[in-house]
Amino acid sequence: MTVPAFMARKGGDPLVCLTSYTAHVARICDEVCDLLLVGDSLGMVIHGMPNTLGVTLEHMIMHGQAVVRGAERSLVVVDMPFGSFEESPEVAFRNASRVVKETGCHAIKLEGGREMAPTIQYLARRGIPVMAHIGLMPQAMNTAGGFKAVRDEAQFDAVVDDAKAVEEAGAFSVVVEGVAAPLADRITHAISIPTIGIGASANCDGQILVFEDMVGLFPTVPSFVKRYGTMEEMMRHAVTTYATEVQARSFPGDEHTYKKK
Ligand code: KIV
Ligand code: NA
Repeated sequence: MTVPAFMARKGGDPLVCLTSYTAHVARICDEVCDLLLVGDSLGMVIHGMPNTLGVTLEHMIMHGQAVVRGAERSLVVVDMPFGSFEESPEVAFRNASRVVKETGCHAIKLEGGREMAPTIQYLARRGIPVMAHIGLMPQAMNTAGGFKAVRDEAQFDAVVDDAKAVEEAGAFSVVVEGVAAPLADRITHAISIPTIGIGASANCDGQILVFEDMVGLFPTVPSFVKRYGTMEEMMRHAVTTYATEVQARSFPGDEHTYKKK
């Protein structure tokens, strides 16, 4: 997958996207996905943080490297963490170019609408494709007072304006998170770049979910997540059985034991 090929899917077959933070998950998701996102949600999902604000550029680079090693066909996009891009387009370019150089990813994603348009334009014109992220922006949880979906009609125009601004700035696609279905529909029709929804109805050009949420490996999930698997139960069963067998000395068995030559 390439950025232009991804953009050409606007209005066509829905774009399939998932997060991946590690090489083995990337290898699995890569078989079916158009895009793998190394999301800063990794701070909460695999590092146990209460929100995404503590995630560093080093976290994103380390996990980005792992995912790039595991992916062969999908577009790999790495999130810019809180504090790494907001200050100025120049700071954003310095940090985003580090991410691209050190991971080999194809593009970066950053949260923000109109206020980030100059930064998106600065990066996009200098060889770094940008995926924007509007609607519910987890990095703004302290100003918003939590993770709040956009459901009040009075807020809709502002989010449509954000979508138009990031498109005009040169974003190749935009994640639309946590918005009511009519707003997702308005955004998708208002812009000519693919909208990728999460908690944003089927009225988008594609969908993304957090891998651990959809396979049932993260205990607390929002209502928009559909669980397609029960990985936590499977893993608990495996480790419980292992513990029982070690205690009973039934593992390792003969077949797991080296014989003398
Ligand atoms: O960090 C993340 O996983 C994301 C997606 C949910 C869009 O930003
Ligand atoms: Na994110």
